[in-house]
Amino acid sequence: MKKKVFLTRTLHDFALKELKKRYHVEVHSGKIPIPQTKLQSKIKEIDGLICFPYDKISKEAIESAKNLKVISTYSVGFDHIDTESAKKKKIRVGYTPEVLTDATANLAFSLLLDISRRISEGDRIIRNGEWKEVYGAFDYVGVDLKDKTIGILGLGRIGETVAKRAKAFDMKIIYHNRKQVSKTKERTLNAKYVSFEKLISQSDFVSIHVPHTEDTDQLFGINVFKKMKKSAYLINTSRGKVVNQEDLVTALKKKIISGAGLDVFEIEPVKKNHPLVKLENIVLAPHIGSSTEETRSKMAEITVKNLDLGMNGEKPTYSVGY
Ligand code: DGY
Repeated sequence: MKKKVFLTRTLHDFALKELKKRYHVEVHSGKIPIPQTKLQSKIKEIDGLICFPYDKISKEAIESAKNLKVISTYSVGFDHIDTESAKKKKIRVGYTPEVLTDATANLAFSLLLDISRRISEGDRIIRNGEWKEVYGAFDYVGVDLKDKTIGILGLGRIGETVAKRAKAFDMKIIYHNRKQVSKTKERTLNAKYVSFEKLISQSDFVSIHVPHTEDTDQLFGINVFKKMKKSAYLINTSRGKVVNQEDLVTALKKKIISGAGLDVFEIEPVKKNHPLVKLENIVLAPHIGSSTEETRSKMAEITVKNLDLGMNGEKPTYSVGY
């Protein structure tokens, strides 16, 4: 009898076809993210789980598993999975780093370019019929990037790729990380290691590339915004909960900082009447860091491969913990 694999969302046709060759496959239909009650009752009967960010794979859900061998998430982030509980039950956890590095770094840099040159704001001005006069000396002025300082919080794969983009734009690069990277890497990137305090106070742009953990939860609140330059911009493509959104609204409204570009939010999807949506000095994207055709399809390939390996009792290619 084929082993059972459950997907909380659908995946590319080629991936489903592959899975169906080897497993009995069921794809969740209905409310997204999958309700906890349904997830918990499914987990009891399956051998493999494919999940997505915002599916909360909690301790309770994992503890109710009977035959579950592997959880394969279609994401680089795995903060939605209680990996400790999975480890205790010897359930493998696979994720999809590397393939989405360029796409996510490009999105971070797109937000940075957009907010610094007010592209989305200009687009709104034209669409709303508010572009009345042509070419004034002070119309819709933005800021240059050359010689500006970008502060990269988290110089992992994505942070490093953002640094490469910043270097090409002749920006000065400072970074803060759990560990200082090698001197060779610092030289190649032309990046200087600084404390978190220096990073926030010296940067013209702060780009966040850390996972959401207990340590980074709500890291960017009003006290941090007050230490940033008034002219600074915040870019976040990591996880929404690293930023206190209410404080960010205050900081943007009161011009404590100049602007922000966000791809991730405390609660997604963001509703039309959210205070962030009412602000002009912000660019918003609907969590699309990895969302290119090429990247998403490579992520699907890896998700299936990670699952296959875990089902065979092996370590996934990209594995968390156990
Ligand atoms: C991930 O894979 O965790 C990213 O948030 C997708 O953009």
